[in-house]
Amino acid sequence: MNPNENLNDVNEILESINRVLSRGVKDRHSDYHTFSVATSDANLVNNRTVVLREFNHDKKYLCYHTNFSSEKISELKKNNNIACLFYSKKDKIQIRINGKAQINNNNQLCEQKWKAMSDLSKLCYFQNHNPGRKIANPNEVKQSPNDSMSKLFTIINVDIEKIDWLYLSRHGHKRAFFLKKNNFDGYWVAP
Ligand SMILES: Cc1cc2nc3c(=O)[nH]c(=O)nc-3n(C[C@H](O)[C@H](O)[C@H](O)COP(=O)(O)O)c2cc1C
Repeated sequence: MNPNENLNDVNEILESINRVLSRGVKDRHSDYHTFSVATSDANLVNNRTVVLREFNHDKKYLCYHTNFSSEKISELKKNNNIACLFYSKKDKIQIRINGKAQINNNNQLCEQKWKAMSDLSKLCYFQNHNPGRKIANPNEVKQSPNDSMSKLFTIINVDIEKIDWLYLSRHGHKRAFFLKKNNFDGYWVAP
């Protein structure tokens, strides 16, 4: 039986979200290791897959890493509203997170995380062409790493304002909301 079947106390669900997202940070095989992140400027909406790098249950934020010259940064500079979408087919769980994004670039937090990163992870921040730039051939793209932190390395912190948890089951669907304005005190909603 799926363990989510037993979640009858709405506050246990918040604990289960903590468990799966914390695991998602560490376990690259977890369904929660990657998620879709949506941003929008005045005209367009965009989403893309990113890797979950941190989830802080107590302070209610999550983080991912990105390139400062990517499109999503210019969108976030205009509009810091952000939506994150997790889905586990195995668990039959969808987690939608809305929040405000904070862009960390070339600061102490970046220095600290950079030191802990593998050389392979650092490599994509030493690319000769910015992400999304038109090129004649994929072979043109080269990385020239050096010993200092790349100024392009960026950490996006999502300050969580709303969590929408949905569990789909033939025994009965369940859905719960957790809002920052209610101190994340959960309540059931119709699925
Ligand atoms: C499995 C997977 C993981 C990815 N992880 C990241 C990531 O952690 N950070 C990131 O910026 N892009 C990541 N990407 C690439 C993005 O999905 C996207 O193509 C890229 O960031 C450019 O997006 P943008 O033009 O909207 O800024 C990942 C893609 C895949 C398929």
